[in-house]
Amino acid sequence: MGLASQHKKLEKNINLLAIGAFIAVAIGGIVEIAPLFWIDNTIEKVKGMRPYTPLEQAGRNIYVREGCYSCHSQMIRPFRDEVERYGHYSLAAESMYDHPFQWGSKRTGPDLARVGGRYSDAWHVQHLKDPQSVVPESIMPKYAFLADTPLKAEGAGAMLTALSRVGVPYSKRDIGQAMADIVLQADPESGGDVEEFQRRYPKAQVRDFDGNPAAVTEMDALVAYLQMLGTLVDVDSAAAQQMLAEETGR
Ligand code: HEC
Repeated sequence: MGLASQHKKLEKNINLLAIGAFIAVAIGGIVEIAPLFWIDNTIEKVKGMRPYTPLEQAGRNIYVREGCYSCHSQMIRPFRDEVERYGHYSLAAESMYDHPFQWGSKRTGPDLARVGGRYSDAWHVQHLKDPQSVVPESIMPKYAFLADTPLKAEGAGAMLTALSRVGVPYSKRDIGQAMADIVLQADPESGGDVEEFQRRYPKAQVRDFDGNPAAVTEMDALVAYLQMLGTLVDVDSAAAQQMLAEETGR
């Protein structure tokens, strides 16, 4: 019996074919899945990445609520045109505390993964209130109401607790002080201990983000979030570290 007729037999017998297909797929599955049980982590650790401050996280929630992800990605791919436009390609660790992640699948507007520090707070506030006033051809909607909406800070502790349950390493202290931390970050005049706050959240930017010191608004939170994006990890030294580790076999 030649190979061809054996193959014919396999094709004509549904049971034999099902078993054969199952074996072929199972081999592929084992090769991909099994190694995950023997490695500690699929995300390389990089220096500088930390959980978001309660204010940044609140801004992130507004970002998700308003559907900013439907027009903006947060994932710079390792292609020359992207790296030249947006900066170093995104590292896995940079979205390790994102629940859910905001990689996005559509870019009606630019990628925002490294927008932090690129514009002033005043630019962001003006742009969010009325995008066409700074970029006349923009099709981005207006979000002026954010500046008039006080930020609801009461749920901050619960928000951090929920995130810690899915693995974000907030301490008891972070959770207990979440509400106070929101006020402290957006209103440094309020009298909190800024140094202690920045020890828990290195590189946290502390100031009145929306230009209205009278209230902590949703605009404060969203701008604090945008100004943090891409600023935590020193990507060039992180990438260099990683390359060295790969060369020396760790
Ligand atoms: C309908 C699509 C759309 C939505 C929704 C949208 N944007 Fe945009 N966004 C754009 C476009 C287009 C641009 C480029 C023109 C401009 O700067 O306004 C842009 C630009 C930006 C920029 C400037 C980026 C840069 O590098 O110049 C920021 C920041 C931004 N958007 C933030 C947001 C945030 C935050 C939200 C949600 C509150 C949002 N956008 C929602 C379309 C959108």
